[in-house]
Amino acid sequence: MSGKTVFRGELSVPGDKSISHRAAMFAALATGVSRVRGFLHAEDTLSTAGMMRALGARIEEVSPTELRIEGKGLRALVEPSDVIDAGNSGTTIRIGSGILAAQPFLSVLTGDRTLRRRPMGRVIEPLVKMGASIRGRDGNRLPPLCIRGGSLRGIRYEMPVASAQVKSSLLLAGLYADSPVTVVEPLLSRDHTERMLKAMGAIVSREGNAVTVAPCERLDPLDVTVPGDISSAAFFLVLAAVTPGSSLTVRGVGVNPFRTGVVEVLRRMGAGIRYSSERVVGGEPVADLVVRGAELAPADVAPEEVPGLIDEVPALCVAAVFAAGRTKIRGAGELRVKESDRIAAMVACLSSLGIPCGEYPDGLWVEGPAAVRPGISCDSRGDHRIAMSLRVLGAAAGVPIEVKNVECIDTSFPGFQSLLDGLTR
Ligand code: S3P
Repeated sequence: MSGKTVFRGELSVPGDKSISHRAAMFAALATGVSRVRGFLHAEDTLSTAGMMRALGARIEEVSPTELRIEGKGLRALVEPSDVIDAGNSGTTIRIGSGILAAQPFLSVLTGDRTLRRRPMGRVIEPLVKMGASIRGRDGNRLPPLCIRGGSLRGIRYEMPVASAQVKSSLLLAGLYADSPVTVVEPLLSRDHTERMLKAMGAIVSREGNAVTVAPCERLDPLDVTVPGDISSAAFFLVLAAVTPGSSLTVRGVGVNPFRTGVVEVLRRMGAGIRYSSERVVGGEPVADLVVRGAELAPADVAPEEVPGLIDEVPALCVAAVFAAGRTKIRGAGELRVKESDRIAAMVACLSSLGIPCGEYPDGLWVEGPAAVRPGISCDSRGDHRIAMSLRVLGAAAGVPIEVKNVECIDTSFPGFQSLLDGLTR
């Protein structure tokens, strides 16, 4: 029940969003001039650049994907003269809060309608434990956040949810604390912050699930190339994987082991995915991914796998539509507080397209292979990853799906549609 078209060729995807955010933020805190190549020029990462400019860093676009950043040093940021708008970006507001919690001035952080509904208690609570003064709407749970930073103390904090954003926020605050900060994760999440801070001279160590950062006087500048975003590549991996006869190469993709869950699950489902030209770029493992389509089997995705593929669940749901049997994804309750409730959004869209599927409180199931009902219009709910998944589903099934609210794709992947059109033409 796969589409009639096969997808062949080569493409590359824009820079990794998580790494681009961190490069812009951390370079602004460094002492000296940093160069960031392969920067993701998208709404979310530009929100981060805007925040760091508002704090006094000079960030120059040498080209849309290359930044020259004159860092302010850890302790010379300036009080922003206006409210900082993080747009749609959870990474900007959450990691930004960790930096601002340590600054001796007042900052107010807000975001768009979606971001203002996303939980912030997870960063406010530990930062307040460190001694910061942070207030948020709805009983200190939601943005806007009002942060009066100051001296911080080191803590050991057991995170209730696996979150790289929360971990990173606390590690950043820890650079400024009077003693080390240790963050204990229930499950391991992406470690881009730890890698980059170490490359900049900070002392970061790991013992099991606990990451510790030592207080720090200065960060060295960065000279870094950001690898392609595996979360963006995932849409094309799925497109080729579900279509027997397809063979697609996605060049220069970051394959940090905390991010490759989507590759592992697609392989388990029967897709052929091979790494070629493996190398290290900017302290991160990178490879060209060569994917071959196949008749897929369903997968069971277990809770411990979820942090490694959290942003790829909508794309994996598309793969599940073509797999012969029921795919189940559990332990993914975090999806309910992403840019949309991604469990509800995917189940609503797939159901309206005639695909058997359903929700669990902490996940979802999809039964394939299923025919996609033509002539249906689906709402992305303003969530970029839902919008792109629906586009891929339409392309793979060879059935046009009208997707409402697709502008949101620009938050993470401008150019997505032309890459897709290039393959389907
Ligand atoms: C991100 C971490 C993940 C991910 C988000 C980006 C990051 O969120 O979903 O898109 O850059 O640290 P959580 O840390 O909240 O799980």
